[in-house]
Amino acid sequence: MNITVKKLITRYILIFIMFQLRRKLLKYIIALSLGIFGSFFIVKSFLNSITKKHNSVQYSQIPLVGVIKLPEVKLKSDCSIEEALLKRRSVRDYKDEPLTLQEVSQLLWAAQGITDPRGFRTAPSAGATYPLELYVVVGNVEGLEKGVYKYNPYENKIVKILDGDKRRELAVAALYQEWVEKCAINLVFTAVYERTTSRYGGRGRVRYVHMEVGHAAQNVYLQAVSLKLGTVVIGAFYDDQVKKILNLPDNEEPLYIQSIGRL
Ligand SMILES: Cc1cc2nc3c(=O)[nH]c(=O)nc-3n(C[C@H](O)[C@H](O)[C@H](O)COP(=O)(O)O)c2cc1C
Repeated sequence: MNITVKKLITRYILIFIMFQLRRKLLKYIIALSLGIFGSFFIVKSFLNSITKKHNSVQYSQIPLVGVIKLPEVKLKSDCSIEEALLKRRSVRDYKDEPLTLQEVSQLLWAAQGITDPRGFRTAPSAGATYPLELYVVVGNVEGLEKGVYKYNPYENKIVKILDGDKRRELAVAALYQEWVEKCAINLVFTAVYERTTSRYGGRGRVRYVHMEVGHAAQNVYLQAVSLKLGTVVIGAFYDDQVKKILNLPDNEEPLYIQSIGRL
């Protein structure tokens, strides 16, 4: 074989190898792009489903006695986070003066407000499963009828679910703790455990959901300091009585009461 023929064969072999490599490379690039694209849509639809599920299931089934749009929250204050931490105390003595709707809006937002277009909230949640629901037992708020309202964080609204002042009944359910009756409002945190246990099993029930309610209540404590209001959390109460007073669905359990009033 002369040199020119050898050169020709080598050149053809090289061209063949390069062609094969390019085809493989192209396949990898296509597979990788499809993978990235697919994962993006899976994550996006998962996040959408979390938001939509809670929104539609929880709020469409409530009988609408009254819907109140809450004032926009204020994101600036003259109280630093350090000052709020320093001054946070459980307060059980309140003036017999009303809260404003602005203050109620701010407190609810601190507890469970939505702070991100993907549905994330002021308080962290295991796997963003958001098991908590939030009720306001209104006794003394300017321009707001006494009754029980449910917070809808998606639309910054409260929905009236029960008429009348329920503070006394709630105080009785909480072993006659008088601040539950004397405060302006009580927040009641409840949980739908399945939202978290369906993903995390028993660990969701014995740990995660209870950790979450602690995060939310602490947010309210700090927000209360910033608004110059007093608050205390209440863990001592009869679950069945609170369930009855608030007319809670079977799959919702009361976890914490938080009394709030003016100093
Ligand atoms: C899980 C838990 C349950 C509580 N339950 C009640 C309660 O039923 N009644 C009450 O007056 N305070 C209750 N508290 C408030 C504590 O008494 C209070 O946090 C403690 O005395 C420390 O005071 P500080 O919050 O001012 O730091 C509870 C606190 C926690 C964390």
